[in-house]
Amino acid sequence: MKIFSATAHTNIALIKYWGKSTYEGNLPATGSLSLTLDKFYTTTSVQMIDGPSDIFELNESPADAQTQQRVISFVDFFRNLTKNKERFIIRSYNHVPTKAGLASSASGFAALTLALARAFNLKSNHKELSQIARRGSGSAARSIFGNFVQMHGGPQITDREAFAEPLEAPSGLNVRMIVLECGRTQKSIGSREAMNLTSSTSIFYRAFLDNHPRLLNAAVLAAKNGNFEELGLLMEQSTLQMHATMLGCEQPFWYFNPSTIVALQEVQRLRQKGHSCYFTMDAGPHVKILCPANEADIIADSFRQIEGIVNITICSAGPGAYLHA
Ligand code: PMV
Repeated sequence: MKIFSATAHTNIALIKYWGKSTYEGNLPATGSLSLTLDKFYTTTSVQMIDGPSDIFELNESPADAQTQQRVISFVDFFRNLTKNKERFIIRSYNHVPTKAGLASSASGFAALTLALARAFNLKSNHKELSQIARRGSGSAARSIFGNFVQMHGGPQITDREAFAEPLEAPSGLNVRMIVLECGRTQKSIGSREAMNLTSSTSIFYRAFLDNHPRLLNAAVLAAKNGNFEELGLLMEQSTLQMHATMLGCEQPFWYFNPSTIVALQEVQRLRQKGHSCYFTMDAGPHVKILCPANEADIIADSFRQIEGIVNITICSAGPGAYLHA
């Protein structure tokens, strides 16, 4: 049986999506702005099988029951859309630490979207592929595209409006993202559950939502104008506001570990010394640093001696998702 394969790269949000406006269709309660990275990606192949159910293998092992179910529900969307009943074996290879807040679901669902769209013979354009990928994972909608990407969202967003699109930034905005892996443990609370807890119980969630459009509009403008400092400062605000919502929950939780905190302080220290660098974090303890390309090596070196940082990767802007021939 024919095999269809695709690759998609992870992306890291500079301005965060956090929370859903509706579960049906996985509609994001906020828009977002991201950078696709060149070093972390997922390659996925799908092949029809003669069997009662889809099979999902991640890095050559059967995925856990919950992930299996999430992937099967995603394939169901394609089956319902096309009135086709085919079953598939799906083999996914993550070149990114899984479930560690390094956006493996973004690259995973974006690659799966392209491979399935081909297998089901859908003639979707990039915008439509992004809408479909969003159903698997909100951040996956952005991984359809390379470089800087804007995703539309909001409390009143509809299915047709919630898609990502490339954002034209000037070529002078030549950035790197340094990914610091702060520990090897898998994250304790997945982003879905964390979003649900914050949107339903955090006393800070309303404030996060109210302030979000201002942050996003300003960051989009800063990116378009090539205003790196402004973009970096807005990214840090978005990051800390998102993490603050978790501290305001009925049962508070956080993703910081000791090396995370040391890394955040080091970014501030470097800035005081005149370096241009800004941090962000997602649903995990890892710290990502945005900096101009010509400063990346020297900034990365400042983190090599920090206890608990197990890996440092300097990423450039990565490409959009693509099908293999
Ligand atoms: O799309 P998800 O469910 O992986 O959620 C992404 C959440 C954050 O990474 C924290 C923020 C974002 O916009 O990517």
